[in-house]
Amino acid sequence: MLAVTIAGISMKTPVMTASGTFGFGPEYSDFVDLNTIGAIVVKGTTLAPRAGNSGCRIAETPAGMLNSIGLENPGSDEFLKATLPKLKKYDVPIIVNISGNTVEEYGKLAAKLSVNGVAGFELNISCPNVKEGGIAFGTVPQSAAAVVREVKKNTHLPVIAKLSPNVTDIVAMARAVEEAGADAISLINTLLGMAIDTKSWRPVLGNVVGGLSGPAVKPVALRMVWQVANAVNVPVIGMGGIMTALDAVEFLLAGASAVAVGTANFVNPYAAAEVAEGLCEYLKERGLSHVQKLVGQVNHNIG
Ligand SMILES: Cc1cc2nc3c(=O)[nH]c(=O)nc-3n(C[C@H](O)[C@H](O)[C@H](O)COP(=O)(O)O)c2cc1C
Repeated sequence: MLAVTIAGISMKTPVMTASGTFGFGPEYSDFVDLNTIGAIVVKGTTLAPRAGNSGCRIAETPAGMLNSIGLENPGSDEFLKATLPKLKKYDVPIIVNISGNTVEEYGKLAAKLSVNGVAGFELNISCPNVKEGGIAFGTVPQSAAAVVREVKKNTHLPVIAKLSPNVTDIVAMARAVEEAGADAISLINTLLGMAIDTKSWRPVLGNVVGGLSGPAVKPVALRMVWQVANAVNVPVIGMGGIMTALDAVEFLLAGASAVAVGTANFVNPYAAAEVAEGLCEYLKERGLSHVQKLVGQVNHNIG
């Protein structure tokens, strides 16, 4: 009823965890049976370890949060040595979210991490917190395409291009990465935002600006998923503010073939599993045999 195959990756459910919101997975294993998750997209991984941004990195906002983590992660060697062996114990596809400072670095990372136990890559070309390149790749169609092409040259595994919402024309970005060979497209990453402390008059975040996520971004995410799903032929993975099964249903109706749960994991570590259970109930109540029956079925007849 819930099993889907996205870009050749078979998942028990269409509910994945969004990168950076579920650690590398094992951190959540005391709460959730990781085998019940559609796919785990691990924390953004870079070639070398990164310390991330200094100062305050998280701020709560109405119906959401701002973060400026700056891609803190232990690096690709540590991922292969310490994290992947732990993840291999579970029967769940592992998708590595990768980030590079240059196009070549993305290629190197993909080649290095194309090993047994990794099911595919999600390209973070859209992180707003890294000054060296992340945002530039994610906002210029030609640059995004160059990253996808380089990664495709360096791996036989499926490649998911993750798009930034911080652009004027999301469809142009989606078409560019599809043409470059992306096997699927995920969206949205966070929306660039800011908060100011009215006592000190200082920005709340050490990095001044950060990425907005959570329910506050859902309508924007849904609109972009709908636009992209109507413009490309590769599967779309929708995310942005999904807290409940009904939120996931909206993304599926808009055209997403799978969804990812992000910020909700910080509020409720069971969120991804509960969204999948709720989806199952929703299908049963409506006598639908498979989740695929929802994909792209938004009814445009008004009244
Ligand atoms: C604390 C935090 C860290 C994140 N780290 C990453 C990351 O490393 N790579 C990435 O592609 N997206 C990252 N994201 C973005 C999420 O994967 C997701 O695209 C976004 O938060 C929208 O979904 P949500 O509203 O359900 O959280 C991060 C988000 C948050 C809140």
